[in-house]
Amino acid sequence: MKKKPAVTSKKLYLSLSLLAIVALASCKFKEQEAKYNHSFKPGKIWVDTDSLHINAHGGGILYYDNTYYWFGEFKTAGPDGNSAQVGVSCYSSTDLYNWENEGIVLPVSNEAGSDIEKGSVIERPKVIYNEKTGKFVMWFHLELKGQGYGAARTALAVSDNAVGPYTFVKSLRPNAQQWPMDYSQELRTKAYDPELKWWTPSWYKAIDQGMFLQRDFEGGQMSRDMQLFVDDDGKAYHIHSSEDNLTLHISELTDDFQGFTGRYTRIFPAGHNEAPALFKKDDIYYLMASGCTGWEPNEARMFEARSIWGPWDSLGNPCVGEDAHLTFHSQSTYILPVQGKEDAFIYMGDRWTPENPIDGRYIWLPIQFDESGKPVVNWYDEWNLSIFDN
Ligand code: DGJ
Repeated sequence: MKKKPAVTSKKLYLSLSLLAIVALASCKFKEQEAKYNHSFKPGKIWVDTDSLHINAHGGGILYYDNTYYWFGEFKTAGPDGNSAQVGVSCYSSTDLYNWENEGIVLPVSNEAGSDIEKGSVIERPKVIYNEKTGKFVMWFHLELKGQGYGAARTALAVSDNAVGPYTFVKSLRPNAQQWPMDYSQELRTKAYDPELKWWTPSWYKAIDQGMFLQRDFEGGQMSRDMQLFVDDDGKAYHIHSSEDNLTLHISELTDDFQGFTGRYTRIFPAGHNEAPALFKKDDIYYLMASGCTGWEPNEARMFEARSIWGPWDSLGNPCVGEDAHLTFHSQSTYILPVQGKEDAFIYMGDRWTPENPIDGRYIWLPIQFDESGKPVVNWYDEWNLSIFDN
């Protein structure tokens, strides 16, 4: 009798094929599991569709043609990672959970002396779309290479496409030789003692009255942390920390969004506000900001106004619960209106990691409104957009 082989070659082939199919399927499952996000998990690694941690810090969002575009600072590892080594990055998404890397849309320049030379500081890029010109307009905080944070400029880049490439146009200190709209004639010529000791009552009074405003009148006002806001009537505004980060300025942009009209106002002189993030709900403007403690988190503050030109009132800290006094270890960068949902806004904050900037985390949390209508931010370990349906 012929001896039967323990495993026929046909059987072996079948088992191997089955094994291969199972292995392939489980790989695919793992890949999908890694790539597909169904919720926001503030503070955790947030992978893009290539399974890499999103690299768009100090970001802002443009919604255009049914797609969200997230622009931000591309950080690198190590001690130089907070200066611009690469440029401005962009990601796109239709559901806000899953983001596709669109690459570097404004690269740094390798030309010595260029405003955006590699090693300069490029922070908080924001992009808005101009209907009249069909251009995508990016403004960002720029510090010239080798000058620390002394230049305090805002900078402009434009593109014909949301995902770039953006062409660098200019950098400047805004509103040179312009007084704020509501600044009294009498204060414009008032003299101050340049030796006034910082943080003393007389120094506060001098700041309030515009001592630094006068100092920078000729060359333009300082502009550091910034945001852009397009109002319902199509007018755009540039909101920035000015006067040595002591006072926020809101400036109107020209119709093409590529310049300043010279109309501007000051908010909370000597209030020491950074990281402005403005949004509008039911005809009320809300402005969230942080204090000034470098990369360390601090307590957020919210303001409200019926007109963008003010008067602005303080609503205090919008964050509630554990670690609310540290904005849940984050700093505001943008407040995102969610499309297709009523009264749905997302607080976007950065949890900076200056020792290794590329590892910075994103703190996205829903903005909710209490019985009096005041915006509040609660912590959630994990949440999704259905929170806005309740
Ligand atoms: C706080 C600002 O909000 C950041 O954008 C950055 O400029 C750091 N300060 C630098 O210390």
